[in-house]
Amino acid sequence: MRARPFSMNSFPGSSMLSEFSMLSESSELSGESSGRPSDRVALVTGAARGIGAATVDLLIEQGYEVTALDICRGSDVSPGMGYPFATPDDLAVLAGRHGDRVLALEVDATDLDAMHSAVNQTLVRFGRLDAVVAAAGVMIGGLPQWQTPAEHLQTLFDINVTGVWNTAAATIPVMLAGSSPATCRFVAVASAAGERGLFNLAAYTASKHAVIGIVRGLAADLVGTGLAAVAIAPGSTRTPMLAATADLYGTTPTDLAQHQALRRLLEPGEVAAAIALCCSVEGAALNGSVIRADGGFGQ
Ligand SMILES: NC(=O)c1ccc[n+]([C@@H]2O[C@H](COP(=O)([O-])OP(=O)(O)OC[C@H]3O[C@@H](n4cnc5c(N)ncnc54)[C@H](O)[C@@H]3O)[C@@H](O)[C@H]2O)c1
Repeated sequence: MRARPFSMNSFPGSSMLSEFSMLSESSELSGESSGRPSDRVALVTGAARGIGAATVDLLIEQGYEVTALDICRGSDVSPGMGYPFATPDDLAVLAGRHGDRVLALEVDATDLDAMHSAVNQTLVRFGRLDAVVAAAGVMIGGLPQWQTPAEHLQTLFDINVTGVWNTAAATIPVMLAGSSPATCRFVAVASAAGERGLFNLAAYTASKHAVIGIVRGLAADLVGTGLAAVAIAPGSTRTPMLAATADLYGTTPTDLAQHQALRRLLEPGEVAAAIALCCSVEGAALNGSVIRADGGFGQ
């Protein structure tokens, strides 16, 4: 089945896209991307710490310029969240490591207008967009499914599902309209919980299954464009979210790592390495896949 023809006027960011098209016709941007990382621009959500921050660090090291977004709401958490969001200071520290190669923005990925604006700012600052990593996510749990409050499910679906959905909706049309869509990539961070049920985490598990569903649907819609959509499914990785998960279970992160064959926690940089491969031009073959970056979870 062929991909539907793309219409520049068919989505809310279309006026911004027209500007981008003019930019793309300028001398510097008119050619095909050479595909070298140094030509590439990425946008990462959930970028202020953890896996998102490690991804920004690695992509910068590989020569990308990066827009780094995070909600940065600190301890102003949603009901049921047992740990804080990142803070403006976290984002400032990340940005401070990379000077003008990072555009740091406080943006809630659940706000589609704010995501369109962030993409617009990316085009104004860097002139193109080649890779997108939807890493923003939260974990709420600790109760069996039938005792889980509806508001916990709502928050998990708002951030983990609608946030990823919006990130795709705001960025995919821009990548399709750029000079070289076949070298562009969309990477969503799911979880080992995207393919199996985890005890007392039914709502989180459902949200991460949905992330994989979004990626599979995208891959079907992108047939023939060359733009690849991939889900990454990390195992237990040393971040504030994992510490909170261990607290829920009354155990330690190190004990959680015993569920993966490596018998140790993954470091955020190790998961970022898998994400960077998915972002690369060479990552095209991963399209439509779920890449398990989980150290052998369940073995
Ligand atoms: N750490 C693990 O063991 C593990 C395992 C599997 C999957 N994951 C997934 O990896 C991703 C990154 O998690 P992490 O472990 O680095 O967690 P983390 O809590 O350290 O980082 C998540 C970041 O997302 C930001 N964020 C949350 N909601 C947001 C929103 N609406 N808009 C923008 N930013 C938002 C937070 O402020 C935070 O900086 C998440 O999607 C998580 O579900 C993590």
